[in-house]
Amino acid sequence: MHLQLDGRGPLHAQLTRALKAAVFAGRLHQGARLPATRQLAHELGVSRNTVLAAYEQLHAEGFVDGRVGSGSYVTPPLQTLRPVRALPAMLAPQSEFARRGRQYHDHARMPGRRIDGVRYSFQYGMPVTNPALTSAWARELAHAAAYTAPSYPMSQGLPALREAVCDYLARRRGVQARPEDVVIVDGTQQAVALTARVLLDPGDTAVLEEPHYAAIREVLQIHGARLQSIAVDGQGLRCDALPSEGAKLVCVTPSHQFPSGVVMSLPRRLELLDYAQRHGGWILEDDYDGEFRYDAQPLAALRSLDEHGRVIYVGTFSKVMFPSLRLGYVVVPAGLRGDFVNAKWQDDFGSPGIEQAALARFMAEGGFERHLRRTWKTLKERRTALLGGLLRCSAGRLQINDSHAGMHLVVWLRERSREEGEAFIARARSLGLGLYSIAPYYLAPPDRAGLLLGYCGLSVAEIDAAVERFAACLDEMWR
Ligand SMILES: Cc1ncc(COP(=O)(O)O)c(C=O)c1O
Repeated sequence: MHLQLDGRGPLHAQLTRALKAAVFAGRLHQGARLPATRQLAHELGVSRNTVLAAYEQLHAEGFVDGRVGSGSYVTPPLQTLRPVRALPAMLAPQSEFARRGRQYHDHARMPGRRIDGVRYSFQYGMPVTNPALTSAWARELAHAAAYTAPSYPMSQGLPALREAVCDYLARRRGVQARPEDVVIVDGTQQAVALTARVLLDPGDTAVLEEPHYAAIREVLQIHGARLQSIAVDGQGLRCDALPSEGAKLVCVTPSHQFPSGVVMSLPRRLELLDYAQRHGGWILEDDYDGEFRYDAQPLAALRSLDEHGRVIYVGTFSKVMFPSLRLGYVVVPAGLRGDFVNAKWQDDFGSPGIEQAALARFMAEGGFERHLRRTWKTLKERRTALLGGLLRCSAGRLQINDSHAGMHLVVWLRERSREEGEAFIARARSLGLGLYSIAPYYLAPPDRAGLLLGYCGLSVAEIDAAVERFAACLDEMWR
């Protein structure tokens, strides 16, 4: 019997697929006896065990009858034995939500998506890899797996983790919150989706800083918000440009504006809080990396000034731990808490219990603090290396926005257009250097060549080597 193996995966699975295809094509009809296992193994040049495994699988799925070893026979065709029809690769969107999803999100073109095949990549959002964290985390996970109740976790989040988050926020971010104010979520992305669901109806106005974190923009767009972006100057969001009729939601990154790095001044913070209070609007404070400040003490979060309960404070473990953890938290004003917990329950019943328990213990027992101190030191060294390297090669050609915080720098190529910036990125790529344009972080990108350089994922030696290539590209462009 002729059987064509497709070369994908284990041999027994390939043989199972080939035999099913023979049944579908009618080459093995109802009642036909499958070849003896020894004979088929010989014909195909595979082991008899491989054939036995394939026959057992066909048997388990109801394709053949009889006992393996004393002859297997093709069973009468069932409804499910029909070959799978070729279905359309893409249907028209079935809902408004799906239509907006297609309109606003294109995974292949997501800003900051990794440039493949380069030796050095200034990709934003990479974690600091740290063997000490890996082994500590493995221990915590093992402990949590052994001791955590396997029932559904509380939708709002494990009390122990909410308590640890409150301690951390009081100590490091100046935020006074009680465990009942906190909802544990699967990162900022879910926090924004829950906020949109709880606060916004399609057509409601949401304000974003310009530039801003594009993933938040897309979530709001997909939820049907009417977006308005407002420029950021040296003091943060231009509050005088906020819509006079009021916005339902204003999303800000006051501790370290993303991506420009500006810190929102105290007068602007007070102005924004007053605006929200006057218009009955809400502020989403995305405090994604306010922790890592290098030349001064971290600034207290905007939430610490909020006397009227208008701020929804969002923190994430993506930066301080690693993004694949997918854990973050929201400090919710008391009057919205029930709606947030409801929305979280609808989404997924609650974030994974074992990871939450592991993190709670890691935080309570001091491992997290030690990790933060180590990471801060590593990041500071990397930032100093990048900043020093860029300043040395600049010769007046670069404008570097040094923000004294975070995990990235914004660099502008002076007097070069956006198009020239794209050519610069393409040239760098041909030299094995991954650079990323800042343009996707704007609703209306300026016609200037700007780069967002994430330095988290490169060692100091790698940064030095990468800057050499960067300098070579600069020299070429200015020749
Ligand atoms: C501005 C900003 N907010 C939040 C996040 C983190 O998002 P998440 O917690 O969903 O990983 C990032 C990550 O890159 C970010 O740049």
